[in-house]
Parts: sequence; structure tokens; C-alpha cells
Amino acid sequence: MKIIEDLKWRYATKKYDTTKSISDKDFETIKEAIQLAPTSYGLQLFKVLEIDAADVKQKLVPASWGQEQANTTSKYLVFCVPKQVTAEMIDEYVEIKAQVNDKDPELFAGYADFMKMKVLALSNEDAVNWMNKQVYIALGVALSAAASLRIDSTPMEGFEADKYATILDLKQKGLTAAVVLALGYRSSEDITQHDKKARRLIKDLFIQV
Ligand SMILES: Cc1cc2nc3c(=O)[nH]c(=O)nc-3n(C[C@H](O)[C@H](O)[C@H](O)COP(=O)(O)O)c2cc1C
Repeated sequence: MKIIEDLKWRYATKKYDTTKSISDKDFETIKEAIQLAPTSYGLQLFKVLEIDAADVKQKLVPASWGQEQANTTSKYLVFCVPKQVTAEMIDEYVEIKAQVNDKDPELFAGYADFMKMKVLALSNEDAVNWMNKQVYIALGVALSAAASLRIDSTPMEGFEADKYATILDLKQKGLTAAVVLALGYRSSEDITQHDKKARRLIKDLFIQV
């Protein structure tokens, strides 16, 4: 039942306590949870930008529909995906897989070719959509991990990707912003923490076939 307690405890935090910071240890745990999230084929094609610079954080607020999280949270993570998938990205992953299993990468050549056939056939737009889906799995894992550590969070789609691209120099990095995760500690003044969870009934969410 711990997972249910955690999920009931968390809420999309609107106002953070700016005097509190996440410990390095807890942040490392959340990063490891993101690292361990499953991805299609295991490729892990996303990058997570950790925004630390105060002037950059300041600029992100108006690009986030005026939401203050960029400027008030202890950690502000921008999940990004590459604008284009390359064969090298797939080879890189195969190298890792071979290395951790102490195997010759050649043994995975068939798997690599299969992934290349499937993934490189996608248009850049379809590839970005496909990678975005996997980012959301990592986001979900991170939200649960944060809740289990009693760290507050806000998943955020409320931002303008083109403005983020300019502020964070994403074009030069070959990335596009997918979703944001703000992490910190709730302010006692955040009234939304008292809202009851509004959720559809389980019987209406599940259909027995
Ligand atoms: C992908 C995604 C994007 C979201 N974007 C925002 C956002 O930009 N700002 C915000 O305050 N909440 C955002 N939310 C939070 C949702 O509004 C919230 O999770 C939902 O209303 C359920 O409430 P709860 O999370 O507090 O239980 C987002 C949630 C998800 C999953």
C-alpha cells in the first residue's frame, strides 16, 4: 500500500518553499529512477537538462505561461529528445549492452539492424513523437520516486517549446523540449495541497473484455 499512500500524498504543486532544497542524495535517487525507466528497445534517446543558472530560470518563467516553478523550485528538469535519430545512437546503445553483458557487440548486430530498420524508417516528426512517449514513462517513474521520498513535484506541459529552444539553445544541441519536471518542497501557502483528488471511478476507467 506504500505506493498508494505515496500517490495520494503527491499533487501537482503550484507554490514552492524557496528556502528548502533537495539533498544531493535524494536528487541522485530521482536521477537513478529516471535512468532505470524502461524505454523502447532500451535505447534511452532522451536527455534531461538540469537548469541551474538563475538568469536562465528567470527567463523560463514567461516562456512557461507565467508559471513560477522555474524560478522557485530546487530542481528544474527539462526532458528533451533529439530532433533526429541516427544509426550512431543505436550503435552506441549496442556497445553499452555488449559491454555490460561482457559480450562481443557483433553478437547484437542483428538486433542493431532490426532497430535501425524500424527506427530510421520513421519521419523525424514520428520519431520525436515516439521518443516523447518514452519521456513520459520516465516522467511517471520520476514522479513516483519523488513522492516516495516526500519530495514535491510538478509535471509541466505548460510551456512554449519554441521559446525554450531559444533560451536553452536547443537547436545547437539538436534537441527539442518534451516536458518539464519541477522538484522541491511545497509552500505552506499552496492552497491546492488541500484539494481532494478528483479522479474517475476505477469501474469507469477499466473495461472488462
Ligand atoms: C503531462 C502533464 C502536464 C502537466 N502540465 C502542468 C502544468 O503545466 N502546470 C501545472 O500546474 N500542472 C500541470 N500538470 C498537472 C495536472 O494538472 C495534474 O496532475 C492533474 O490535474 C491531477 O492533479 P494532481 O496531480 O494534483 O493529483 C500536468 C500534468 C501532466 C501529467
